[in-house]
Amino acid sequence: MKVVPLAADSLGVRSMATYVECGATRILVDPGAALAPNRYGLPPADAEWDALKRANDRISGYATRSGLVFVSHYHEDHFRYDPGLYAGRTVWAKDPRRMINPRQAERADTLWKSIAGVSRLDSAEGRSVETADARLSASPPLAHGIEGTGLGYVTALTVTDLREGTRFVHASDVQGPLSPVAAAYLIRERPTLLYLSGPPAYLEGQLGRGLIEQGIDQLLHVIGQTGCRVLFDHHALRAPDYRERFRRLWDTGHVVTAAGFLGLPDEALESRRSDLWRGSRKQARRMEPRLKRREASAIMRDGRQRRKAKGGSSA
Ligand SMILES: [Fe+2]
Repeated sequence: MKVVPLAADSLGVRSMATYVECGATRILVDPGAALAPNRYGLPPADAEWDALKRANDRISGYATRSGLVFVSHYHEDHFRYDPGLYAGRTVWAKDPRRMINPRQAERADTLWKSIAGVSRLDSAEGRSVETADARLSASPPLAHGIEGTGLGYVTALTVTDLREGTRFVHASDVQGPLSPVAAAYLIRERPTLLYLSGPPAYLEGQLGRGLIEQGIDQLLHVIGQTGCRVLFDHHALRAPDYRERFRRLWDTGHVVTAAGFLGLPDEALESRRSDLWRGSRKQARRMEPRLKRREASAIMRDGRQRRKAKGGSSA
């Protein structure tokens, strides 16, 4: 089985887009990417807009070779409205009416209306299919983080390679997992490779240390029970001290970021946004005479244009 993270927080954007290939069975999971509109009181830096463009190009490229597109939920870092991405393909997307919050239900409604006519579209929850190479099965709704918050639910996808016996689970925004129910589900799926969003340590001030520790403990439990390797990314990579904060996980030797899995260095740009802007301001100061002109600088114009570029919107 081939598993290729296409875009991720460790690759500079909010995303868990992944391509999975088992022989002729080719799947694109969560084909979206976005940038935080506001972090540390700052809009995205130029390096982040560049990373977003690369991410969207990669997702579009892998879409053309995929037979099935899977959408875990309707946060805009997990899907794209563009009907062309889904046209002619089988699409399993989270049920737009059951176990969903109102905001995501609105987005789901828009997406379903725009792609229902061009794709073979079904609710993902509980669905399974077996091909010559693989068995695919979607989870029931799992909490987006802790149970009972307004953040709603996600659907996980398990891909079993029938030739190798390997099992990949894409568990999207389970955030740790923070939910014991989600942890139990992941153990039951017996993954050999698990991809999930880690606990949102960047919000630790609001959520409390105990909750983040709970997510770490539960992931350690999943690893202990299954021996799986883990791609640990997304929410976890937004804390600037994620290497220290999640030391207990990295030290197991089972846990890597999506970038690390690809053999690349982490580029967690959002967590470094203040530095990225500081860097650009230094540059701007050096160009002081030009900034006194009435018209906007080339850098500002360029930035505004890129915000209108394909995929440049974010939730
Ligand atoms: Fe997300």
